[in-house]
Amino acid sequence: VLTRKFSISTSQNAIKTVTVIGGGLMGSGIAQVTAQAGQTVTIVDLEPEILNKAQKSIQANLGRVAKKLYKDDPGKIEGFVKESLDRIKISTKVEDSVNSDLIIEAIVEKLDIKQELFNKLDKLAPEHTILATNTSSISVNAIGSGIKRKDKFGGLHFFNPVPVMRLLEVIKSDHISEDTYQTMMEWGKSVGKTCITCKDTPGFVVNRLLAPYSAEALRMYERGDATKEDIDIGLKLGAGFPMGPFELADYTGLDTNKFVLQVMHEMTKHPVFEPIPLLDKMVAEGKLGIKTGEGWYKYK
Ligand code: CAA
Ligand code: NAD
Repeated sequence: VLTRKFSISTSQNAIKTVTVIGGGLMGSGIAQVTAQAGQTVTIVDLEPEILNKAQKSIQANLGRVAKKLYKDDPGKIEGFVKESLDRIKISTKVEDSVNSDLIIEAIVEKLDIKQELFNKLDKLAPEHTILATNTSSISVNAIGSGIKRKDKFGGLHFFNPVPVMRLLEVIKSDHISEDTYQTMMEWGKSVGKTCITCKDTPGFVVNRLLAPYSAEALRMYERGDATKEDIDIGLKLGAGFPMGPFELADYTGLDTNKFVLQVMHEMTKHPVFEPIPLLDKMVAEGKLGIKTGEGWYKYK
């Protein structure tokens, strides 16, 4: 079944069961698209409230998807939502949730915490299990540096909001096997995404290009060349972007913006990724965007 923004694939894939570690913004979206594609998924988070919140937001978003998928057959909406939800399990314990064909990590963007998790998963998960990280900007090879199954490890980089954005970047870590890479590409297709491939380079394809663009927009505003409102309008109406750079920063989070710039600067030393004082000030003041009620714009 295909609609403009959502596709539910019926293609068969080696992956039947998935574990998503981290039930926040990205993890809940990844779990949703997996469940709506007919696969069984377990979401693991340290916080029980986050898991409850994830279930609620998935239920609401599945409703939106179902309304579009079955607009000519509304009798099927309730069943689709219920069956998809029934395929989602939740847990606060990684060790009880490793029995899957694929484990995707979507936890906090910190190298040492991610490494620790992967070292644990490598020891606990069945031999055939593929391990993947959804990191935005950290080196995939560095995240998996301590694991043994380097042939069964790579990056699966989704975009926010996961149920809507149609892209999946499949990141080829240095030691990934052809078999694992092909399985990841197939799996991406099975959850309705168009997959592109990138080597393990800073920011991969999309963030490597988006980060300089957003940094230059902030500097333009900082210099007083144009208002943030006009920069946003300019990029939307003059270049066809769905959101301007300030709206997008509020949407993804100014802290994420700052962090991506920082990591890209560490990795490339390119001056375009140098710190931006105005962005640092906003983050220090806790103005992180929609999630805190204020960023470049105010939200109720
Ligand atoms: N689940 C399911 N459906 C959703 C949804 C969700 N979470 N959020 C929105 N939708 C659906 C809506 O139902 C609506 O569907 P229809 O058009 O079919 O009716 C559609 O998506 C559009 O939603 P809205 O009308 O509410 O809002 P919009 O038209 O302003 O679109 C947007 C919202 C899709 C977010 C759009 O503004 C957009 O594409 N923005 C850019 C997002 C972007 O660039 N993301 C990448 C960030 S970078 C990243 O993620 C990488 C990283 O590592 C940081
Ligand atoms: P988030 O803060 O919304 O969610 C992270 C979740 O991980 C939290 O709920 C936290 O409780 C949980 N967590 C932390 N450590 C854990 C552990 N050891 N075990 C289990 N759960 C743990 O963050 P997010 O925006 O969903 O980002 C998650 C990952 O996805 C990051 O690596 C981020 O860079 C990447 N990413 C984010 C975006 C975005 O736009 N936000 C886009 C693409 C990729």
